[in-house]
Amino acid sequence: MASSSVTYSFLLFTLLAIVPLSFQTCHKGKFIHIPLYLHRIIEGPEATTLTIINPGKIPYSFGTTRVNDHELRVGKDPKSKLVARLQGVSVESSLAKTRDILLLGNVVFVAGKYNNSIVSIYGRRSVPSYGKSVISIIAGTEKFLMAKGYIVRGMSYNCSSKATVSSFDIYIKPYCKKHLELEPEMEHGTTM
Ligand SMILES: *[C@@H]1O[C@H](CO)[C@@H](O)[C@H](O)[C@H]1NC(C)=O
Ligand SMILES: *[C@@H]1O[C@H](CO)[C@@H](O)[C@H](O)[C@H]1NC(C)=O
Repeated sequence: MASSSVTYSFLLFTLLAIVPLSFQTCHKGKFIHIPLYLHRIIEGPEATTLTIINPGKIPYSFGTTRVNDHELRVGKDPKSKLVARLQGVSVESSLAKTRDILLLGNVVFVAGKYNNSIVSIYGRRSVPSYGKSVISIIAGTEKFLMAKGYIVRGMSYNCSSKATVSSFDIYIKPYCKKHLELEPEMEHGTTM
């Protein structure tokens, strides 16, 4: 008994010693809150969504698949600053009347302090969504390398006959504080 528990303790000690210190200290940072507004243009030449599969089957719109490139702005005003785009695919994937939608895509920052960083999302939204949808953040790049978190998307409101707006709050925890401090990589091989 005694010797096996000594062996066990030794194994545990060895395992803990192998785990790099960074693994133990990461994931302790606070969530960063990035409050944005999702602007979707449903119709017309400026549309930010395109139906690529429309099986036209009953019940409801099961199977309908769209590719999206919506705008994420700092305010509800469609003229407010554009900071990111939501690029991805949405699939109507429920046989129920609630029209649940599978969402997958990238929030691609195009301006501001997170310019060029990407947040990859995967989740579900209900239409009509009377409440809020919570969408998982599964990964990221640049300043959000290996980040985790979630997005709270509010109800959509029509701001015109062709456009909708909804709140889009990103809560994200970078994998490690040190990743936030990554400098852009130096250019390689540009001089002879
Ligand atoms: C964002 O980064 C891209 C690529 O580096 C650059 O071309 C663009 O000017 C930047 N945008 C802003 C608003 O800083
Ligand atoms: C909002 O816009 C959508 C798409 O154009 C339309 O189907 C819907 O009836 C509108 N709702 C209201 C309340 O205006």
